[in-house]
Amino acid sequence: MTLFKKKIFILTGAGVSKESGIKTFRENDGLWDNYKIEDVCTPEAFERNPDYVNNFYNERRKMINHNKIKPNEAHKFLAKLEQKCSDDFMLVTQNIDNLHEKAGSKKIFHMHGSIDKLYCMNCNFVFDFETDISTKDICKNCNLSGYIRVDVVWFGEQPKYLDIIYNFLKKTDIFISIGTSNNVYPAAGFIDYLKQLNKKAKLIEFNIEKTSKSMLFDEIYTGNASKTVPKFVKKII
Ligand code: APR
Ligand code: ZN
Repeated sequence: MTLFKKKIFILTGAGVSKESGIKTFRENDGLWDNYKIEDVCTPEAFERNPDYVNNFYNERRKMINHNKIKPNEAHKFLAKLEQKCSDDFMLVTQNIDNLHEKAGSKKIFHMHGSIDKLYCMNCNFVFDFETDISTKDICKNCNLSGYIRVDVVWFGEQPKYLDIIYNFLKKTDIFISIGTSNNVYPAAGFIDYLKQLNKKAKLIEFNIEKTSKSMLFDEIYTGNASKTVPKFVKKII
């Protein structure tokens, strides 16, 4: 496959960070085996008990930012692929960790937000944040407290960057899905969107097992992403 002028859309999920030590959501002992989505990942949960939700993200932020959690070879080779493809490349991640950034990727769209960012529900200001979040935090922009929440997209909320995403999907020649169970929409529907565009995009899936969308892909690379992604990238760049 020659890359020349091909538009490449990469979609990553929790599986790409699994080998770096971050739990996925739906595998055995995954995050949703230990927490109920309706208790920590909905606007209603935050309304009902902001401290409990803030603590959930404080614990995850501490774990994700621990110095033993590092990008793996899959993150690194996606950064190399981006360098090679520049404008014809888009990396959309469902992950809220910062491992793609740490691996050197530049143009990352966190469609479910980032655990290292907060936003103010009063003035919509978004700012980076490394320590624990609390209901007492004061917004750096409007100086009010009581409006700060983690900048993560909860169930029932609109994911970010959908306009840019669908515009790029319209031009996509190669769609590569890595480490996602393809359970959660709209990300799980990107492949259906490509299929109904009837654009003949090449559809490639990387996972350790079959997913609910595997039958739609042209090529499937089964195995740990830290092995399968570098092998694939080396072959095409
Ligand atoms: N290499 C490749 N794939 C892997 C690896 C690995 N080493 N380890 C696990 N996987 C795959 C699993 O087989 C599974 O299909 O990663 C996928 C993880 O699936 P989920 O836990 O459902 O995570 P994800 O698809 O990212 O979830 C999507 O759901 O809860 C929401 O907001 C949350 O962004 C998340 C969204
Ligand atoms: Zn504010």
